Amino acid sequence: MLKFINSVSWPFILAVFIYVVLTPKAFVDGRTISNVEKTSIIKTIKVDNHEIIDCYDIFKQPSLTHPMLHNHTIQMRPSVYPKNIKSVNLGTLQITQTWHKYGTCPHRTVPIRRSVGKHYYSTLLRKQRRPKPFHGKKPNTLQPNGIRENHEYAVIKVRGSFLGAQAKINLWNPNVETMIEMSVSQIWVTAGDDNDLNTIEAGWAVDATNFGDYQTRFFIMWTSDSYKHSCINMRCPGFVQTSPDISLGCNFTEISTFNGDQKDATFSIYKDQNNGNWWVQLQGISLGYYPSSLFTRLSKTADDVEFGGEIYNGRYKGRHTTTQMGSGHFPSEGGLGISSYFSHVQVLNENNEAKDPEDAETYVSNPDCYDLKVDKKRTNGYSFNYGGSGYNDNCQ
Ligand SMILES: *[C@@H]1O[C@H](CO)[C@@H](O)[C@H](O)[C@H]1NC(C)=O
Ligand SMILES: *[C@@H]1O[C@H](CO)[C@@H](O)[C@H](O)[C@H]1NC(C)=O
Repeated sequence: MLKFINSVSWPFILAVFIYVVLTPKAFVDGRTISNVEKTSIIKTIKVDNHEIIDCYDIFKQPSLTHPMLHNHTIQMRPSVYPKNIKSVNLGTLQITQTWHKYGTCPHRTVPIRRSVGKHYYSTLLRKQRRPKPFHGKKPNTLQPNGIRENHEYAVIKVRGSFLGAQAKINLWNPNVETMIEMSVSQIWVTAGDDNDLNTIEAGWAVDATNFGDYQTRFFIMWTSDSYKHSCINMRCPGFVQTSPDISLGCNFTEISTFNGDQKDATFSIYKDQNNGNWWVQLQGISLGYYPSSLFTRLSKTADDVEFGGEIYNGRYKGRHTTTQMGSGHFPSEGGLGISSYFSHVQVLNENNEAKDPEDAETYVSNPDCYDLKVDKKRTNGYSFNYGGSGYNDNCQ
């Protein structure tokens, strides 16, 4: 080695030295990370080459770079909890996330899944196919900007004045036909109209554009300007994480099987009235929150809450996509073990009390492709089955 150094020129060594010392980037596990990130990451947990969790110092997490959060004091836990939510409503999951088998994040750190893999598609395409609440739009209509609305929905919608929403969602791994498409099952908490729509969303998604594979993954999302800008998980600053246990974008350890074991998990979004922050919970574990200051309309209560499924129909073969919603089976084919469900669906009223939705409207964009049926018996609280196969004789 020394011999080699003697034989190369000093300017070269100096150049290498300057590059190594002054460059703000480092190359770690196939991705460049900045020195700022390097000092914020306390520990790294590796499941495999595609699944890497970085435990960030909670006070140096990337979200705090958001311009609205420069002087933000982190709220370590909610100051109020919703009333009337029963813990028996929690889902079946025991070990919630795969990476737990490989390590834990230390106290005062938060687990952030590293974005690995390529982003194959343009921002425009990404925008075109992102999840959004249906808001009365007809699917497959041409928008003023020339984008065809190829989203399909099977959802229920509740209007009023709400501090949050919660539901237990059946976990499935629907088939998604192309990389560009997606299938999501989620809760939307929204305020405002088409010009200044604010949303906070949580649920599960099969979404290869965002995650690089076809696994069922936990996601959250927000917008404060009708989706002109919107952000999933930790892709951009905003969501302040507090939990050392749950990471966004991870898969679930167990998924339901057709006519077999059913797996589900409880997802909640609710507002802490004392400071306006919107908390997100998975399985009753508080994950973190969206600070009230990020929003225009959601700085107050939500006026529209929706629950259900959405897919993006790319029509790449000149016909309706075969991308499935829920389990890929229609409610008319059967309930538990056949079609996917939402159960114990609740909204939080202005007194922070969990209530069954009243006067919920059902919106199904094309019942021959995906459908929804509310369970009149209410054996598991307010519940419904939803989903479908996409392309078939009646869905072209
Ligand atoms: C943060 O605090 C500084 C000093 O008090 C103030 O000048 C600045 O406007 C604050 N920034 C925000 C985003 O509130
Ligand atoms: C979750 O991901 C891991 C690898 O990252 C994989 O081994 C496991 O099978 C996945 N779990 C499910 C239920 O898909």
